[in-house]
Amino acid sequence: MTRLRTPTHGWFITIEGPEGAGKTTQAVALARHLERSGLDVHLTREPGGTWLGERIREVILARTDADATTDPLTDALLFSAARRQLVSEVIRPALAVGQTILCVRFADSTLAYQGYGAGIPLAQLRDLERAATDGLRPDLTILLDLPIEDGLARKAPEEVTRFEAEFDLAFHRRVRAGFLDLAESEPDRFVVVDASEPAEQVAAAAAAALDRLIG
Ligand code: TMP
Repeated sequence: MTRLRTPTHGWFITIEGPEGAGKTTQAVALARHLERSGLDVHLTREPGGTWLGERIREVILARTDADATTDPLTDALLFSAARRQLVSEVIRPALAVGQTILCVRFADSTLAYQGYGAGIPLAQLRDLERAATDGLRPDLTILLDLPIEDGLARKAPEEVTRFEAEFDLAFHRRVRAGFLDLAESEPDRFVVVDASEPAEQVAAAAAAALDRLIG
């Protein structure tokens, strides 16, 4: 899996997975691991990572009235808008000066949630992805996988977003299966890590995947 990189182009690594997989905790551990390898790491997240992206995050994840529903394509457009801003303002400039970007969630989340979960055709979402990213794709995606019930049970009440509150277990099961399907279709980019293991074990497996990438 080792790929050549010129010193002026950094690695682009994403961390994906269903709810409660421990993505943020693992991202912090992985950032430290990469820094120990001598890389200059910028840790960011989606939706968010820019002033505008964090505002979009507040709006899109806020719990709404029980009878207020959001059209799934509206969600996809908002996530894509936040993504476009993050790519143009943060990710591309950082990669261009050799920084490594570690991003919690990216375009695979839109395919999994708005595509496999909410039923928008994947081809339509891939068009949106291209508009948001101009074709930039991660070098490596770590998929933290675990059973939906386990992940949702890990969430504290104050962490529950509109997505956990509004969508049922069947939706989240489709999301998980969607991520696994995406991983299977791109085995060179994805590494699937069992996130139901203790955090240290998950961190070690994810770090080993990164080491194989950066050589
Ligand atoms: P998180 O930061 O706790 O993972 O919350 C982000 C939520 O937004 C999570 O429920 C997944 C959802 N999401 C989508 O539905 N589509 C997307 O493209 C992204 C980035 C996130």
